[in-house]
Amino acid sequence: MNIRILNSREDLNATAAAVIASLLLNKPQAMLGLATGSTPIGIYRQLVEMYRKGQVSFARAYSVNLDEYVGLPPEHPQSYRSFMNEHLFQHIDIPLAHTRVPDGNAADLAAECAAHEQAILDHGPVDVQLLGIGHNGHIGFNEPGQGLKGATHVVDLEEGTRAANARFFGNIADVPKQAVTMGVGTILKAKQIILVAFGADKADIVKQAFTGPVTTECPASLLQCHPNVLILLDQEAGGWLI
Ligand code: F6R
Repeated sequence: MNIRILNSREDLNATAAAVIASLLLNKPQAMLGLATGSTPIGIYRQLVEMYRKGQVSFARAYSVNLDEYVGLPPEHPQSYRSFMNEHLFQHIDIPLAHTRVPDGNAADLAAECAAHEQAILDHGPVDVQLLGIGHNGHIGFNEPGQGLKGATHVVDLEEGTRAANARFFGNIADVPKQAVTMGVGTILKAKQIILVAFGADKADIVKQAFTGPVTTECPASLLQCHPNVLILLDQEAGGWLI
């Protein structure tokens, strides 16, 4: 694992965006594994800026997202499809048909999970997977516990995860109780993984995930088994390393 501590969030966003942009320069048809939440917003802002300056094109790229809430239609303002359109897709030249966010509103969720895996097989493997980390060590929505699954599946969200995400909904009662998520096996098949974390509140879980034992009780710790992981931290999240 390559762990880097950056001086500022701007540096962190620029570093992650530069890895993605240089991948696209070398492989315009690359498949990007994308995340939602607070963490990647600045990275997407940086990529949009690079696109506007003509420094990167997504015209031939494919993307696949980690997860989506169950029960939210794609046009719901808090769906991850809406998030991706708003923060990235509508500002760049990626064809929407090349982007895939799981459909959490599908009538047959098992078939939707299989279709997500198939899309990765069709256009992948994922060349670079962007990840944030939950306070409980989740990646995607793979919550801690012995029942970790490999492939894309439906998961029950922990109350802590719902509480953390209530800030986007205004009210915890409105936060869905389930999500579709890539499994840890799917995530580990990416050629490269970039995990980004900032803020003091992520310091303990980052330390546990990358210096503690590999255990399903901290799903991010399984990244220790991957041969090409870049961990980008700001001073607050990575201060324990200095
Ligand atoms: C989002 C996702 C989650 C988040 C994690 C951190 O697609 O899969 O694992 O990366 O919950 O969320 P933030 O970035 O909001 O702290």
